[in-house]
Amino acid sequence: MRLSRFYLPLLRETPSEAQIVSHQLMLRAGLIRQEGAGIYAWLPLGFRVLKKIEQIVREEQNRAGAVEMLMPTIQQAELWRESGRYEAYGKEMLRITDRHDREMLFGPTNEEMITEIVRTGVRSYKDLPKLLYHIQWKFRDEIRPRFGVMRGREFLMKDTYSFDIDKAAARKSYNKMFVAYLRTFARMGLQSAPMRAESGPIGGDMSHEFIVLAETGESGVFCDRRLVDMPVPGSDIDFEGDLQPIVDQRTSLYAATDEKHDAAEFEEQVAEGDRIAARGIEVGHIFNFGTKYSEPMNAVVAGPDGKNIPLEMGSYGVGVSRLVGAVIEAHHDEGGCRWPLSVAPFHVGLINLKPGDADADAACQSFYQAFGKAGVETLYDDTNARPGEKFARMDLIGLPFQVIVGPRGLKNGVVEIKNRATGDKSEASLGDAAEVIVAQVTKGLQHSL
Ligand SMILES: Nc1ncnc2c1ncn2[C@@H]1O[C@H](COP(=O)(O)OP(=O)(O)O)[C@@H](O)[C@H]1O
Ligand SMILES: [Mg+2]
Repeated sequence: MRLSRFYLPLLRETPSEAQIVSHQLMLRAGLIRQEGAGIYAWLPLGFRVLKKIEQIVREEQNRAGAVEMLMPTIQQAELWRESGRYEAYGKEMLRITDRHDREMLFGPTNEEMITEIVRTGVRSYKDLPKLLYHIQWKFRDEIRPRFGVMRGREFLMKDTYSFDIDKAAARKSYNKMFVAYLRTFARMGLQSAPMRAESGPIGGDMSHEFIVLAETGESGVFCDRRLVDMPVPGSDIDFEGDLQPIVDQRTSLYAATDEKHDAAEFEEQVAEGDRIAARGIEVGHIFNFGTKYSEPMNAVVAGPDGKNIPLEMGSYGVGVSRLVGAVIEAHHDEGGCRWPLSVAPFHVGLINLKPGDADADAACQSFYQAFGKAGVETLYDDTNARPGEKFARMDLIGLPFQVIVGPRGLKNGVVEIKNRATGDKSEASLGDAAEVIVAQVTKGLQHSL
């Protein structure tokens, strides 16, 4: 992509309404634009990151055996009356009336709708288990939208729903999502830890929030350092096999958000040197709620003895749009964003220091073509801005690699390569540079699978 054709409206000043670094950088680097309280337009650069994050979430859901579908954003109040949540949900629900005076709403979540869909399509225990998900915009009329996309009103969520015949089978579905989440966040360059969470009126031990440690997080968290350092299951993990040991290994270590924290237990179970008391961002939440919806909504299947049994259900959310902010919180410096390769809007920023100079133009054009052929996504700064402005801009948007091409270097047959994450700069010969970059990008992308 040529920068001259792209749309990248940068802000010179840090907007005063933005309190945390991810919100500031998302506005400054032209990723988003606020269109209302807690409502954002995704500008081209931000949209590319959002789509990459969405795709990683999708790949890991598919790997775990979940099946993708798409439910509408607008729902009928009727459905929510069946579960009893239409009144209970309160002011966070955006209620709408259509021209026929029918009560509608913009979905804050989809338990009722998926239950309605599945109850008509499964009849026997033999039709189970089912694990279905969609990635769709939600609206919650948050009393205090803040921190940009971290707590928006309109936000993108991946929500999965599981349907099982009994508690043992439901636990298997729960474990699949537990392990899928470990992989999902790691692939985005995030260290996440599953923490015991409020499980609501149902109780039980099957509710975990996946938390990314960050100073600006909304939740206070307490956990054992060994949990954060634990290696992530590889891509060859068998999701149909026994995942319980992987889950037990993690849930046996202390980890709780402030709502569930017990100071005495914490001190008893975790050695002083391993205690982490920090803040964190909730990026995912998995939850088993038994028959909370299936009973009132009469979602049943015939069991082996022919008698009807209400479905055992769970739901599993990931904050896709929130993750864009979370990745920036984890990967930035004074200069701007520092995207991990796996979610970067482009892999390489190609800077032409002197457009119009025949040699610089020719060298850039040949890089641009070589990268394109190799599948390396490139943002080519072909604009007439001053070099200083080009450097600052490229650092701000934070693409993992920069290739800097100018007449002076070209006289000696070299270009400069910069690694944005480490800050390392090196010279490469005009002949080698494309190969070096392609190799590094390819290796980095492989590594994050
Ligand atoms: N207002 C919001 N803005 C952005 N992301 C959100 C918002 N609310 C929830 N999410 C994301 O969706 C995931 C699932 O939501 P859920 O657990 O139902 O929400 P909550 O924890 O606010 O009750 C959360 O873990 C979070 O990552
Ligand atoms: Mg939650």
